Amino acid sequence: MNEANGRRPLSTVRVNARGEDYRVVRVGGNLFVCAKENGSCCCGWEEKGRMPFENQLWSDEWERRGIRNRLHLTFSGCLGPCIAGNNAMLQLHGRSIWFKDLNSADLIPKVFDYAEEMLAAGKVLPPPDDLRGHVYDRYLAPPEDDWLPMSAPGEDDGDGLDRLDPVCLMDVDPATAKHTVEYGGRVIAFCAPSCKKQFLANPAQFAMTS
Ligand code: FES
Repeated sequence: MNEANGRRPLSTVRVNARGEDYRVVRVGGNLFVCAKENGSCCCGWEEKGRMPFENQLWSDEWERRGIRNRLHLTFSGCLGPCIAGNNAMLQLHGRSIWFKDLNSADLIPKVFDYAEEMLAAGKVLPPPDDLRGHVYDRYLAPPEDDWLPMSAPGEDDGDGLDRLDPVCLMDVDPATAKHTVEYGGRVIAFCAPSCKKQFLANPAQFAMTS
Protein backbone atom coordinates (compact mmCIF):
# COMPACT_ATOMS: atom_id res chain seq x y z
CA MET A 1 0.00 0.00 0.00
CA ASN A 2 1.05 3.56 -0.62
CA GLU A 3 0.70 5.21 2.77
CA ALA A 4 0.24 8.67 1.29
CA ASN A 5 -3.13 7.90 -0.22
CA GLY A 6 -4.01 4.42 1.05
CA ARG A 7 -3.91 2.97 -2.44
CA ARG A 8 -1.97 0.10 -3.88
CA PRO A 9 0.85 1.07 -6.22
CA LEU A 10 0.01 0.75 -9.88
CA SER A 11 0.92 -2.61 -11.32
CA THR A 12 1.01 -3.97 -14.83
CA VAL A 13 0.81 -7.34 -16.47
CA ARG A 14 2.87 -8.31 -19.47
CA VAL A 15 0.80 -9.60 -22.35
CA ASN A 16 1.92 -10.82 -25.71
CA ALA A 17 -0.10 -9.83 -28.75
CA ARG A 18 0.76 -10.05 -32.44
CA GLY A 19 4.20 -11.34 -31.45
CA GLU A 20 5.11 -8.37 -29.26
CA ASP A 21 5.08 -7.84 -25.50
CA TYR A 22 2.95 -5.08 -24.03
CA ARG A 23 2.34 -3.82 -20.53
CA VAL A 24 -1.29 -3.55 -19.49
CA VAL A 25 -2.21 -1.61 -16.35
CA ARG A 26 -4.05 -3.84 -13.93
CA VAL A 27 -7.22 -2.26 -12.65
CA GLY A 28 -9.44 -3.08 -9.71
CA GLY A 29 -12.53 -3.43 -11.83
CA ASN A 30 -14.69 -2.50 -14.77
CA LEU A 31 -18.06 -0.78 -14.91
CA PHE A 32 -20.20 -1.78 -17.89
CA VAL A 33 -23.12 0.50 -18.74
CA CYS A 34 -25.76 -0.66 -21.20
CA ALA A 35 -26.00 2.12 -23.77
CA LYS A 36 -28.49 2.94 -26.49
CA GLU A 37 -25.67 4.32 -28.59
CA ASN A 38 -24.14 0.84 -28.65
CA GLY A 39 -27.27 -0.96 -29.73
CA SER A 40 -29.16 -1.62 -26.50
CA CYS A 41 -32.74 -2.65 -27.19
CA CYS A 42 -34.35 -1.19 -24.03
CA CYS A 43 -31.95 0.65 -21.71
CA GLY A 44 -31.92 4.37 -22.42
CA TRP A 45 -35.05 4.21 -24.58
CA GLU A 46 -37.42 6.95 -23.39
CA GLU A 47 -40.22 5.47 -25.49
CA LYS A 48 -39.88 2.28 -23.42
CA GLY A 49 -40.16 4.14 -20.13
CA ARG A 50 -36.45 4.39 -19.39
CA MET A 51 -34.46 7.50 -18.72
CA PRO A 52 -32.54 8.45 -21.86
CA PHE A 53 -29.17 7.72 -20.30
CA GLU A 54 -26.52 10.02 -21.60
CA ASN A 55 -23.18 8.26 -21.88
CA GLN A 56 -21.65 11.66 -21.21
CA LEU A 57 -23.07 11.73 -17.67
CA TRP A 58 -21.23 8.51 -16.88
CA SER A 59 -18.00 9.41 -18.62
CA ASP A 60 -17.90 12.95 -17.11
CA GLU A 61 -18.31 11.52 -13.60
CA TRP A 62 -15.66 8.88 -14.28
CA GLU A 63 -13.17 11.45 -15.64
CA ARG A 64 -13.91 13.93 -12.84
CA ARG A 65 -12.88 11.35 -10.26
CA GLY A 66 -9.56 10.51 -11.93
CA ILE A 67 -10.05 6.78 -11.44
CA ARG A 68 -9.11 5.61 -14.91
CA ASN A 69 -6.23 3.54 -13.54
CA ARG A 70 -8.38 1.85 -10.95
CA LEU A 71 -11.75 1.36 -12.62
CA HIS A 72 -12.36 1.05 -16.33
CA LEU A 73 -15.62 2.30 -17.84
CA THR A 74 -17.18 0.49 -20.80
CA PHE A 75 -20.36 1.35 -22.67
CA SER A 76 -21.84 -1.92 -23.81
CA GLY A 77 -24.74 -3.12 -25.89
CA CYS A 78 -27.45 -5.25 -24.27
CA LEU A 79 -26.23 -6.85 -21.03
CA GLY A 80 -29.16 -9.27 -20.93
CA PRO A 81 -31.76 -8.44 -18.25
CA CYS A 82 -33.52 -5.82 -20.41
CA ILE A 83 -36.76 -5.96 -18.42
CA ALA A 84 -34.98 -4.46 -15.39
CA GLY A 85 -33.12 -1.68 -17.23
CA ASN A 86 -31.51 0.77 -17.19
CA ASN A 87 -28.75 -1.67 -16.38
CA ALA A 88 -25.10 -1.57 -15.44
CA MET A 89 -22.71 -4.21 -14.17
CA LEU A 90 -19.68 -3.67 -12.00
CA GLN A 91 -16.94 -6.25 -11.94
CA LEU A 92 -14.80 -5.66 -8.89
CA HIS A 93 -12.63 -7.83 -6.67
CA GLY A 94 -13.70 -10.88 -8.66
CA ARG A 95 -17.39 -10.20 -8.17
CA SER A 96 -20.09 -9.11 -10.65
CA ILE A 97 -22.47 -6.63 -9.07
CA TRP A 98 -25.57 -5.91 -11.12
CA PHE A 99 -27.44 -2.59 -11.11
CA LYS A 100 -30.98 -2.16 -12.42
CA ASP A 101 -33.58 0.54 -12.73
CA LEU A 102 -30.98 3.31 -12.89
CA ASN A 103 -33.54 5.84 -14.03
CA SER A 104 -32.23 8.96 -12.36
CA ALA A 105 -29.06 10.88 -13.08
CA ASP A 106 -28.60 11.25 -9.30
CA LEU A 107 -27.72 7.56 -9.12
CA ILE A 108 -24.65 7.87 -11.31
CA PRO A 109 -22.33 9.44 -8.68
CA LYS A 110 -23.71 6.99 -6.13
CA VAL A 111 -22.66 4.03 -8.28
CA PHE A 112 -19.16 5.50 -8.54
CA ASP A 113 -19.08 6.29 -4.79
CA TYR A 114 -19.94 2.65 -4.07
CA ALA A 115 -17.25 1.40 -6.45
CA GLU A 116 -14.65 3.72 -4.97
CA GLU A 117 -15.61 2.69 -1.45
CA MET A 118 -15.02 -0.96 -2.36
CA LEU A 119 -11.76 -0.17 -4.14
CA ALA A 120 -10.54 1.60 -1.00
CA ALA A 121 -11.72 -1.22 1.26
CA GLY A 122 -10.14 -3.89 -0.94
CA LYS A 123 -13.27 -6.02 -0.75
CA VAL A 124 -16.89 -6.19 -1.81
CA LEU A 125 -19.21 -4.30 0.54
CA PRO A 126 -22.99 -4.36 0.92
CA PRO A 127 -24.67 -1.67 -1.18
CA PRO A 128 -25.31 1.70 0.51
CA ASP A 129 -28.92 2.62 1.36
CA ASP A 130 -29.40 4.73 -1.78
CA LEU A 131 -28.48 1.79 -4.02
CA ARG A 132 -29.92 -1.12 -2.09
CA GLY A 133 -33.02 -1.25 -4.30
CA HIS A 134 -30.89 -1.11 -7.43
CA VAL A 135 -28.41 -3.92 -6.76
CA TYR A 136 -28.86 -7.64 -7.21
CA ASP A 137 -27.04 -10.83 -8.20
CA ARG A 138 -27.63 -12.04 -11.69
CA TYR A 139 -24.92 -14.64 -11.81
CA LEU A 140 -25.11 -17.82 -9.78
CA ALA A 141 -22.78 -17.95 -6.81
CA PRO A 142 -19.64 -20.04 -7.14
CA PRO A 143 -20.31 -23.50 -5.72
CA GLU A 144 -18.08 -22.98 -2.68
CA ASP A 145 -17.12 -19.53 -1.59
CA ASP A 146 -17.39 -17.05 1.21
CA TRP A 147 -20.13 -15.32 -0.72
CA LEU A 148 -21.87 -12.11 0.30
CA PRO A 149 -25.40 -11.92 -1.15
CA MET A 150 -26.32 -8.62 -2.84
CA SER A 151 -30.07 -9.14 -2.60
CA ALA A 152 -32.26 -9.00 0.49
CA PRO A 153 -33.50 -12.38 1.80
CA GLY A 154 -36.58 -13.52 -0.10
CA GLU A 155 -35.74 -11.74 -3.35
CA ASP A 156 -34.33 -14.90 -4.93
CA ASP A 157 -37.54 -16.88 -4.98
CA GLY A 158 -37.63 -18.13 -8.57
CA ASP A 159 -41.10 -16.66 -9.16
CA GLY A 160 -42.07 -15.94 -12.75
CA LEU A 161 -40.09 -18.68 -14.46
CA ASP A 162 -43.29 -19.78 -16.18
CA ARG A 163 -43.49 -16.35 -17.85
CA LEU A 164 -40.01 -16.28 -19.34
CA ASP A 165 -39.47 -16.47 -23.06
CA PRO A 166 -36.85 -19.25 -22.90
CA VAL A 167 -34.92 -17.87 -25.87
CA CYS A 168 -34.40 -14.19 -24.99
CA LEU A 169 -35.39 -14.44 -21.27
CA MET A 170 -37.88 -11.58 -21.56
CA ASP A 171 -40.92 -11.62 -19.28
CA VAL A 172 -43.97 -12.56 -21.42
CA ASP A 173 -47.47 -13.22 -20.13
CA PRO A 174 -48.70 -16.54 -21.62
CA ALA A 175 -52.32 -15.34 -21.20
CA THR A 176 -51.87 -12.47 -23.66
CA ALA A 177 -48.86 -13.57 -25.73
CA LYS A 178 -49.35 -13.72 -29.50
CA HIS A 179 -46.65 -16.33 -30.03
CA THR A 180 -46.92 -19.55 -28.03
CA VAL A 181 -46.27 -23.28 -28.29
CA GLU A 182 -47.32 -26.19 -26.13
CA TYR A 183 -44.27 -28.07 -24.99
CA GLY A 184 -43.53 -30.36 -22.07
CA GLY A 185 -47.09 -30.12 -20.82
CA ARG A 186 -47.26 -26.33 -20.62
CA VAL A 187 -47.76 -23.27 -22.75
CA ILE A 188 -44.53 -21.44 -23.52
CA ALA A 189 -44.85 -17.81 -24.58
CA PHE A 190 -42.46 -15.88 -26.80
CA CYS A 191 -41.93 -12.17 -27.28
CA ALA A 192 -41.60 -12.48 -31.06
CA PRO A 193 -41.91 -15.01 -33.90
CA SER A 194 -38.11 -15.15 -34.18
CA CYS A 195 -37.82 -16.53 -30.63
CA LYS A 196 -40.54 -19.09 -31.31
CA LYS A 197 -38.78 -20.20 -34.47
CA GLN A 198 -35.46 -20.61 -32.66
CA PHE A 199 -37.12 -22.58 -29.90
CA LEU A 200 -38.93 -24.94 -32.28
CA ALA A 201 -35.68 -25.65 -34.12
CA ASN A 202 -34.19 -27.13 -30.94
CA PRO A 203 -36.43 -27.05 -27.83
CA ALA A 204 -34.00 -29.03 -25.67
CA GLN A 205 -31.39 -26.29 -26.11
CA PHE A 206 -33.65 -23.88 -24.24
CA ALA A 207 -34.50 -26.04 -21.23
CA MET A 208 -35.00 -23.76 -18.23
CA THR A 209 -31.98 -24.93 -16.30
CA SER A 210 -28.73 -23.24 -15.48
S1 FES B 1 -30.99 -3.40 -23.40
FE1 FES B 1 -29.88 -3.06 -21.54
S2 FES B 1 -29.77 -5.03 -20.71
FE2 FES B 1 -30.75 -5.39 -22.60
